[in-house]
Amino acid sequence: MISFEAGKEIAQVELHSLHLHDGLYIPELMLSEAEKVRAAAFCSLEARRMFVAGRTLCRSIVSRITDCTPAALSIAITPSGRPYLPDHPDIDFNLSHAGNMVVLAVSRGGHVGVDIEPLNLFSEAEVREILPLILSAQELNDLHHLTSQQRQNEFLSHWVRKEAALKCLGHGFLADPQSVTLIQKNTTFGIIESPPREAVFVHSGQFKCGNGSDLQWAVAASTMIAEPIWRHNLDLVHFMRVV
Ligand SMILES: CC(C)(COP(=O)(O)OP(=O)(O)OC[C@H]1O[C@@H](n2cnc3c(N)ncnc32)[C@H](O)[C@@H]1OP(=O)(O)O)[C@@H](O)C(=O)NCCC(=O)NCCS
Repeated sequence: MISFEAGKEIAQVELHSLHLHDGLYIPELMLSEAEKVRAAAFCSLEARRMFVAGRTLCRSIVSRITDCTPAALSIAITPSGRPYLPDHPDIDFNLSHAGNMVVLAVSRGGHVGVDIEPLNLFSEAEVREILPLILSAQELNDLHHLTSQQRQNEFLSHWVRKEAALKCLGHGFLADPQSVTLIQKNTTFGIIESPPREAVFVHSGQFKCGNGSDLQWAVAASTMIAEPIWRHNLDLVHFMRVV
């Protein structure tokens, strides 16, 4: 089992949320040519809107750290679809969308993965069906004693933490989610172990958006991290000025 090393450096992850109100479209000014092509290929206008918002948020925030203009920032994609910064290997980011919300995680000196999902994502019947496909034997055992309602809530937090961890590792759901086990270490973070014993440190919680669209969130990092710092953006207007 991987244990925490005393005195090991604790990194800081920033989480940036953007609530994209209904009907608000973000211009594609900051996107690269490849991103514009990808945006144009979306059949769903909603998916396109959220993709453009995510990449614009990412370019706006990361360009401030890297000291280059948002449009000039080079974003590459691994064969499994993970975006990364080829010119800034010390900085990593990850994105997640749900409903009208985009969340960007940014870290220095390690990989990061983020996931957000609406609290009502799965019905009770869906949880019963999916649970054994997602959780490892150990995790299933831990949920065994819970009531059906408790299991439904617990399953969503497991799902979100696991997706964040798999995104941090770069596989996404190309990896078998049952092959990783989340081990709760204390109230603030856990460790995921997966062959070949890559440790991932996870923070998670709930995000109150009001209007009944509350979210479960999780961020995972390849280095030990402190409680993430949240920055909530209600619009992208001040970002668009920096083009
Ligand atoms: C990663 C994955 C779990 C995300 O699921 P999702 O339901 O789209 O959920 P989210 O909104 O939370 O995340 C989407 C973001 O994850 C990031 N992402 C995509 N693939 C990723 C991967 N392999 N690892 C980490 N992050 C990834 C992207 O930034 C993407 O947003 P963007 O395309 O707007 O930039 C899912 O896409 C997956 O399993 N992908 C890997 C397998 C695959 O289908 N690859 C296709 C390309 S080969």
